[in-house]
Amino acid sequence: MSGPEIRILPDREGVNAYAADLLSTTLSTAVAERARAAAVLAGGGTPEPVYRALPSFQGIERVDWLLGDERVVEGGSELSNLAMISAALFERLSIDPDRITAPRLALEARRITEDYEQRIRQILERDPDQRFDLVLLGLGADGHTASLFPGDARRDASRLVESGKAPVAPHLRVTLTARALCRARQVVFLVIGEDKAAAVRQVIGADGDPELPASWIRPADGRVLWLLDRAAGSRLA
Ligand code: 6PG
Repeated sequence: MSGPEIRILPDREGVNAYAADLLSTTLSTAVAERARAAAVLAGGGTPEPVYRALPSFQGIERVDWLLGDERVVEGGSELSNLAMISAALFERLSIDPDRITAPRLALEARRITEDYEQRIRQILERDPDQRFDLVLLGLGADGHTASLFPGDARRDASRLVESGKAPVAPHLRVTLTARALCRARQVVFLVIGEDKAAAVRQVIGADGDPELPASWIRPADGRVLWLLDRAAGSRLA
């Protein structure tokens, strides 16, 4: 298995423009080839400008959009990944709600995970290889990705979705597991800023730490691209 591709762009603006173009191109190509596509989207702050910059594209109506993880907060909370992505992308591009798959937080807590797992499986079963076309991920300064945090996530989780407690608020999370996130034709890590430089080095540097959750996302038959600004990539040399 070859290592990840690393692309370092001068600044945040360059990364955002490149990422928006990569998302639209990857998904429109997937729809052209298979008449549908599925994209798993990252939460947090980094991807929001990319979602705002994403143009509509040929075949967008045939894309299934999923959340890689969600914080268990009130629906309208500013901490909700679904609320952020809805405002930045889904509402702006008039995405059909039937094409959006997110954890149903109104369910009983013990049902949320199982329900999301079942719906993720249904989306995967629509694909001839049971894979997502694109998985967009961020990186925490501690090496976490989605809501897989060092020390509490299980690399070998057999499920596709797990609930867990994050060390940072909001603590309650629902997340795709490494097993699910690796079911990808293309994974893109979007990382910006000096504060992530050490974590980037710990994950993809020469002395990478395989115990960090972001290190676990290595699809057996998919590509991984690390899209960094100069600051986030500054410790790789
Ligand atoms: C979340 C994300 C999380 C995020 C990183 C980086 O729900 O918060 O899934 O994994 O990508 O914490 O967050 P920032 O982009 O805000 O730095």
